[in-house]
Amino acid sequence: MTTIHELGTQRLRDRIAAELERTRARTALLTEAVDDADLMRQHSPLMSPLVWDLAHVGNQEELWLVRDVGGHEPVRRDIDDLYDAFKQPRRDRPALPLLPPAEARAYLAAVRDKVHDLLDRVPFTDRPLVADGFAFGMIVQHEQQHDETMLATHQLRLGPPALHAPPPPEPRARVADEVLVPAGGFTMGTSTDPWALDNERPAHTVHLPAYVIDAAPVGNGRYAEFIADGGYDDPRWWSEAGWRHRTEAGLTAPLHWRRDGDGWAYRRFGRWSPVRADEPVVHVCWYEAQAYAAWAGKRLPTEAEWEKAARWDPATDRSRRYPWGDEEPTAEHANLGQRHLWPAPVGAYPAGASPLGVHQLVGDVWEWTASAFRGHPGFAAFPYREYSEVFFGDDHRVLRGGSFGTDRAACRGTFRNWDYPIRRQIFSGFRCARDARPDESPR
Ligand code: AVJ
Ligand code: FE
Repeated sequence: MTTIHELGTQRLRDRIAAELERTRARTALLTEAVDDADLMRQHSPLMSPLVWDLAHVGNQEELWLVRDVGGHEPVRRDIDDLYDAFKQPRRDRPALPLLPPAEARAYLAAVRDKVHDLLDRVPFTDRPLVADGFAFGMIVQHEQQHDETMLATHQLRLGPPALHAPPPPEPRARVADEVLVPAGGFTMGTSTDPWALDNERPAHTVHLPAYVIDAAPVGNGRYAEFIADGGYDDPRWWSEAGWRHRTEAGLTAPLHWRRDGDGWAYRRFGRWSPVRADEPVVHVCWYEAQAYAAWAGKRLPTEAEWEKAARWDPATDRSRRYPWGDEEPTAEHANLGQRHLWPAPVGAYPAGASPLGVHQLVGDVWEWTASAFRGHPGFAAFPYREYSEVFFGDDHRVLRGGSFGTDRAACRGTFRNWDYPIRRQIFSGFRCARDARPDESPR
């Protein structure tokens, strides 16, 4: 596989410039789709006003690229605290003296001008922050992550639709129910992917007994059966903490669902439509996913089980970058990049399946795993503890695979996302797994 390093400096510069501009176009679209008053408003206490995300993206780019990599004077030193996510809790952000939209846009443009100057001159030495353009890759991924956060804000926003996209493709293949993954070791994480973030590192071997994993994310049809069977009213299926949360929060169905005659409808980016049975369920919290899995006689996959299903190639006994191989995702492989505004029906991406026949691991919905968020063995925080390390521990669960709202720059077989087990404003779904029965094991 060609690494970015082998591309040569000019090609690396061109590639970085293209990724920065492609990402900024998405940010512009998300923040130009609504008027200034809407940008300044808080649509949910869980989310920032869109104009905070906008200037925060520019401020991180200034801190890491202009000041740290470039060693230049600040563009604006007066606003660092306003856009520091740790100093400003989300619920307080609308009351801050935020830059109004025109000023925020001018700030982003001024920072970006300096970054293009810098990019023309920076020597890509072995200094870890700049080797292979890492800091630039980190900033591209950071902006893409906020673009997905802004998309989640759009989904929570009430009022007439502001975003438009064609529907995802229809099913093109029959997909099995489950797939057996044989016992054995595999390589989890990476030490060589140049833009992989600290929590994906280092590569290490993990041994797993044989297990069975769903060949596709759980669909709305099966999830509605769980609801109809009284799943939300039966503490048997729920963990103790999950039942407490279900009761206190009054959960009865995924977020954005309402009853519609005998069935269900969901609201997606301002439009109501009937729930489609063969589409992966989205906007469920970890507790709901865990309860469904128990009702189905299964469990959530561990993070290692998810990654082995997504990366391990039985033909070569190696881990690859994506389920389909090492090539960058295209529109044929996965529902990524906000090309569509909801998950695709099961069977829509046969070209993206793994060698064992596991479908739609990448794209469509973030998949909750059973695992708490921790560092891989040998983890070292880089370049700052506040990206990953401060979130390690039992409070957060890991999600894998990316959603329709995730860009390919911030999604790969090693990429790790995390959130509290009660969260469901994100584009979260899941698939189930179970231990293999002895007679199911090979040999
Ligand atoms: C990795 C999605 C949990 O949005 O809180 C953005 C990404 N970190 N800015 C988040 C992130 C700093 C992070 N997640
Ligand atoms: Fe951020």
